[in-house]
Amino acid sequence: MFSKATYTARREELKKLVKDGIILLFGNNDSPFNGPHNGYSPFRQDSSFLYYFGQKRDGLVGVIDIDNNKETLIGDDIDIEDIVWFGSVNTVADMASEVGVAHSAPMKALRTIVADALRQHRRIHFLPPYRYLLGIHPNQQKEAASLDLIHAVVKMRSTKTQEEIEELERAAVIGYKMHTTAMAITRPGLTEKFVGGQIDGTANSYGATTSFATIYSQHGEIMHGNPSMAELQDGRLVLCDCGGETLEHYCSDNTRTFPINGKFTQRQLEIYSVVEKAHDYALKLAKPGVKYMDVHFGVCKIIFDGMKELGLAKGDTEEAVRQGAHAMFLPHGLGHMMGMDVHDMEALDQIYVGFDEETRPNLEQFGTNCLRMGRRLQEGFVVTDEPGIYFIPDLIDDWRASGHCKDFLCFDKLDEYKDFGGIRLEDDILITADGCRFLGKDTIPIRPKDVEEFMAQARG
Ligand code: GLY
Ligand code: MN
Ligand code: MN
Repeated sequence: MFSKATYTARREELKKLVKDGIILLFGNNDSPFNGPHNGYSPFRQDSSFLYYFGQKRDGLVGVIDIDNNKETLIGDDIDIEDIVWFGSVNTVADMASEVGVAHSAPMKALRTIVADALRQHRRIHFLPPYRYLLGIHPNQQKEAASLDLIHAVVKMRSTKTQEEIEELERAAVIGYKMHTTAMAITRPGLTEKFVGGQIDGTANSYGATTSFATIYSQHGEIMHGNPSMAELQDGRLVLCDCGGETLEHYCSDNTRTFPINGKFTQRQLEIYSVVEKAHDYALKLAKPGVKYMDVHFGVCKIIFDGMKELGLAKGDTEEAVRQGAHAMFLPHGLGHMMGMDVHDMEALDQIYVGFDEETRPNLEQFGTNCLRMGRRLQEGFVVTDEPGIYFIPDLIDDWRASGHCKDFLCFDKLDEYKDFGGIRLEDDILITADGCRFLGKDTIPIRPKDVEEFMAQARG
């Protein structure tokens, strides 16, 4: 937990930004699994609640009454039955005081607080809920949320403070250990699940969790391909996308794609070097004031040009990217904000997190509709740089059948790559005053020569 002063200062700034009304910040509730004394594990607190109230226990709500300058932590103290099964925890009053909140109240007080505020026609602000809330029908929950609160939270959480950067650095160090463990043990004959288990266990053994369900698959063309019981095949690539989450819930998110037998083939290197070029391009360009959308489309052009050189694509690159032909190879965005959520603040709606008036993505276009970050970068933002090239057999067949972007794609050649899989390279970058830098102490091997050397050494 950060200091009391951090949480107090954050709530003070939030009050200034939102100006009036009453703010409700809901923590998450634990869900029982097969019986009342087993919870889904691990329990994960809501990130915005954590940001302003810092407490990790389930069943809490933070109330900030701006008009009366009163802050309350709401929750029921646990009873002796809970203590028997889960151990003792601080009282809600003690938890409130730990984060500089003067008042605490049991859960039943929430109903009264809300009813009083409604009677007085006061503004009630809450974030877009992803769980059942306040008797509002799920279809109407998103619209009922407070835009003023969303904008204030996005403004504050987007720029990482020094103490947050230190946590993100810790997450990056754990991510490094997870990735290098995977790279070191990968070899033909093991199952994907075995390596996946070692990756997750590495995070756990450093007191962390994974920041999302680990992706480790020979089918790198499946964006979120979780490990299966398939055996790793000699001659194929494996895509490993994973990250650690610290005790304070700050994340890392990296991807490497490497040869299962430790040596890239020429064909793999040809595709890899295009992704590498796209990855490096983003690092060169990213700095305050630059629109990440421009970097994304720059990357799309590099990828399309690379595919043209290999005879997989054709035609005018500008026009091809305008029409979305690059999405055959790169059907997602260059990156996303990262922080306490791996896709930071995604629950608040990406359109408010990653875009503004001058950067509206074309949500109608396949590929571009998955862009999560387009707005101008600012010092203190943490974003991912994650270009990829994928050969998705069903997508190749689908576009060939419909004729979509047929003037820009060489379908016969694409058919030859249906067994290729996919390559993604991903790093987390902190935007600095005049550029950007990686988070973490060491860089996970990324240059093909370094990857091969690392794998050869690990095999002894
Ligand atoms: N790990 C999912 C992503 O890279 O966005
Ligand atoms: Mn990732
Ligand atoms: Mn990512």
